[in-house]
Amino acid sequence: MSRTKIVLIVIVGLFIILQLVPLNQTNPPIIKDAATPSDIKLILKTSCYDCHSNETEWPWYSRIAPGSFLITRDVVEGRKHLNFSEFSDLDAFDSTDIADEIMEVLEAGEMPILPYLLLHPGASLSDSQVKTLTGWAETLYSD
Ligand code: HEC
Repeated sequence: MSRTKIVLIVIVGLFIILQLVPLNQTNPPIIKDAATPSDIKLILKTSCYDCHSNETEWPWYSRIAPGSFLITRDVVEGRKHLNFSEFSDLDAFDSTDIADEIMEVLEAGEMPILPYLLLHPGASLSDSQVKTLTGWAETLYSD
């Protein structure tokens, strides 16, 4: 067998083996969806919910390794930081904290993250959407 053939077989074999690695691509139950005005909900659902809720849409390419590893990691990490499906009994301290973080990422233009925007151009936020979201985040501050 030629070298090239062997290399190809090894690459294809590795690719197949990678597909067998189990991933935690689940949508856990919604404990309590964040109560937000409908214009806010629409922006959050379009731009944030895939990584910050339990209503993640997993497209076909999210199932194919090795890209699936990166996508799954973003969702797991994203939910850890902020989960709009588990937004119920935030105490005053928590909601102030979350408001701060949301304002921070919006002002820095950090969210949604770039690789996501390349695959979901419609999720990028316009200036006026950033303003709307920032205004809403301010209402999360407890006095
Ligand atoms: C493709 C997945 C993805 C999308 C979409 C996304 N995020 Fe994130 N987000 C992450 C990940 C991963 C982290 C944790 C790591 C980090 O901070 O980069 C995070 C962290 C955060 C944090 C916490 C930052 C901190 O300082 O701890 C906030 C707040 C946040 N995101 C808000 C948003 C908002 C608001 C949107 C929508 C406009 C959004 N994200 C869209 C993946 C995403």
